[in-house]
Amino acid sequence: MSDKIEEILSEVEEFAINTKEEVESFRLKFLSKKGKLTAIFSELKNIAPEERKAFGQKVNELKLKAEVKWKNALNELSDSSDDKSSDLDLTLPGEPIKLGSAHPVTIIRNQIVDIFNRIGYNVAEGPEIEDDWHNFTALNFPPEHPARDMQDTFFMENLDGTALRTHTSSVQVRVMQQGQPPIRVISPGRVYRNEAISARAHCLFHQVEGLYIDKGVSFADLKQTLLYFAREMFGENSQIRLRPSYFPFTEPSAEMDVSCNICGGEGCNICKQTGWLEIMGCGMVDPDVLKNCGIDAEIYSGFAFGMGIERIAMLKYGIKDLRLFFENDVRFLEQFHNPD
Ligand code: DAH
Repeated sequence: MSDKIEEILSEVEEFAINTKEEVESFRLKFLSKKGKLTAIFSELKNIAPEERKAFGQKVNELKLKAEVKWKNALNELSDSSDDKSSDLDLTLPGEPIKLGSAHPVTIIRNQIVDIFNRIGYNVAEGPEIEDDWHNFTALNFPPEHPARDMQDTFFMENLDGTALRTHTSSVQVRVMQQGQPPIRVISPGRVYRNEAISARAHCLFHQVEGLYIDKGVSFADLKQTLLYFAREMFGENSQIRLRPSYFPFTEPSAEMDVSCNICGGEGCNICKQTGWLEIMGCGMVDPDVLKNCGIDAEIYSGFAFGMGIERIAMLKYGIKDLRLFFENDVRFLEQFHNPD
């Protein structure tokens, strides 16, 4: 009898399993009800009682070998389309989904809009492809005037004067044309300039424009509004200062600086040792601009201001290269999160 076991053992060992069909014929030949192992188990009753234990052990070993060989072959040869659902643990928690984060320009834009919303400003938007009148002429840039060179423009070929807007001030004009004061709007959006791309300049960037027109609006209102903005944006201890400047559409015009939030005004390399950071242009809307847009300059007055969103983001986050905003490198972007 043990010869028989040896014989089956070598048959099991020599049986080559290379295909799925052979896996099944192996099972049928040795492990099924009609297989050789079942048959040899049934011999047990014919064995002399004193030899039964040893015989039983040998047949069990043989059976184990055959089963291991069969299971291994089954695993190896079953392809991925086979149903492996029995191996799945459906109670395991899922893979966490990686959440995206808002772009820093979006985060800062929303903060600026929020700050002005709280004092009654609404968002107004305008087209990025703009005609000469809204981008320049209505804003007191006379034709051929050198002030137009302040902003290098991308003109549309064959479309006289039509251009990618160089600033969001064009939206002021559209808003004033559309309705009478009181007007309180904030206009965020993309602007374009024909500039060589560098760490400090780009052909595409974002601005926010503000406009307030009503009866009796004064320069003091402008100053107080900008102080409020600076403190909301850069912290409650922020100070501002206004320096005389020139823009064709405001009179008087000013440049606003905020005290450096990095060094607290002591002087550092971000503020170039001055303690101040230049943030925006502003001024009282020139009466000629009001007239151009259909608003009675004898009754109404107002102020306007404009700032670069990337510039604010660079100052808030300590970013040194403007190009980072446009490269969309996830390693850069994932560092920014909306404040709760
Ligand atoms: N439009 C100006 C620029 O692009 C920024 C600006 C300055 C806007 C003064 C204003 C303003 O509304 O009053 O540089």
